[in-house]
Amino acid sequence: MIKTNKLENLFLSDIVIFGGLGDLSIRKILPAIYFRLQAKQLADNCRVILISRKDFNKKEFEDILRSKIENGIEDVSKKDLNHLISICEYYKADLNQKGCLNNLKSFLRSEDNVVRLFYFSVSSTLFGSITKNLKEAQLITPKSRVVLEKPLGHNAESSREINNEIAGYFNESQIFRIDHYLGKETVQNLMVLRFTNNLYENAWNAQNIDNIQITVSENLGVGSRGGFYDKYGALLDMVQNHLLQLMCLVAIEPPNILDANTVRDEKLKVLKSLRPIDIDSCKTHTVKGQYTRGKLDGKSVKSYLEDIEKFNSDTETFVAIRAYIDNWRWAGVPFYLRTGKRLSRKHSQITINFKNIPHNIFPDGKSIVNNKLIINLQPEESIELVQTVKTPGPGGYRYEPISLVLDYGSSFKERFPDAYERLLIDVIRGNQTLFMRKDEVEASWKWIDSINQSWAKAKIKNHLYSSGSNGPGDHILLDKHEWNN
Ligand code: BG6
Repeated sequence: MIKTNKLENLFLSDIVIFGGLGDLSIRKILPAIYFRLQAKQLADNCRVILISRKDFNKKEFEDILRSKIENGIEDVSKKDLNHLISICEYYKADLNQKGCLNNLKSFLRSEDNVVRLFYFSVSSTLFGSITKNLKEAQLITPKSRVVLEKPLGHNAESSREINNEIAGYFNESQIFRIDHYLGKETVQNLMVLRFTNNLYENAWNAQNIDNIQITVSENLGVGSRGGFYDKYGALLDMVQNHLLQLMCLVAIEPPNILDANTVRDEKLKVLKSLRPIDIDSCKTHTVKGQYTRGKLDGKSVKSYLEDIEKFNSDTETFVAIRAYIDNWRWAGVPFYLRTGKRLSRKHSQITINFKNIPHNIFPDGKSIVNNKLIINLQPEESIELVQTVKTPGPGGYRYEPISLVLDYGSSFKERFPDAYERLLIDVIRGNQTLFMRKDEVEASWKWIDSINQSWAKAKIKNHLYSSGSNGPGDHILLDKHEWNN
């Protein structure tokens, strides 16, 4: 029997990472384990088994791990890093090969209290083969959980196939489809903001809101992920998951309790109410683009085609969509979704543009700016409420818009855990609230498919935009509105 204290008993786990030496594992998953071990939320004697195809001896493996993780953690503690490395094991496997996991059992503990976490951080085309191999090697226990990284397939059909395949071996309560945006502090704060402040909730509807804008802008290009990215593009890489999840949190009806299925039921209703984008509306309701060479922070950067080392590609690195949720609360309110790579800066933001006042009583007739609630998700975390106030001074009424700012960062001084830290612990605890249910994923793919198919039928082309700009062709979409930049 393994000796553990009460706390460790809860969180004792064997974490198996497929794609263990891949980019995500090194940048996010292993640092998340490092910090949760440090916070004593994971037991000291957890085990981490990293699976990859390459050949390493123990020393090479440990050296690679140390140098890669060290680079990614600020003020890394040598002692804690040594501890993490001491609990990591390497397992070599070609995941397409039958029987490739037959020797994994000796790395895992069989006690009932050990949570077995299988983290699939590889292409979803391998998910079926991995699951079959886990089954064949008799590694799936009642306390096993499986984490599926996005993108889950490339359309509704392939996503359904993958989901069905996995459902043959794991119950839905064991499956955690991850969208790391749901683990971000500021994204979770959306639920708190909406459902604890009566002031907002009363105005949160088509009667009071003119339009909503959700922007996830990145200044990075595709980097070393060109091979992967070129098969997906911004619509599948970002909108299908992160932007739709943000939209769901802004648009859902209040769940009656904070419970995984109740929250997910409400999100599903939003996704099912999305108006499909057909061959006509894709011309007026969507814009897609691809970055060309340009300047960022004073430095010249390459075009997308140069980054992926191809002469030609139709893959979009920018997408903007005017979406409508056809239900009572949101009838007629445009939701502008926008995301792109190599834009002028990294920032993620949600702007709620309230309707303007119906009548101006002030004699100079100067236009009044509508109230806006601006939720800055990253990198600066803050909430701004733009309202009009009197400009001080005698002689008539003069007024101007001023922001009331709640700076999340300076109000809460402690370090914000990375999204993966929270999500990892939620998986171990078995809490699925922040993970997507099968029907949610399918509903979001259905809407995304409507866009992709319409783009193909209408032969929609990319608008080229210079790296470092704010993207292309916004005017086509925006109607009378303006982006909140
Ligand atoms: C990932 C996408 O899911 O999210 C990447 O695949 C993107 O292309 C990343 O860069 C953005 O995440 P974050 O947390 O940096 O906003």
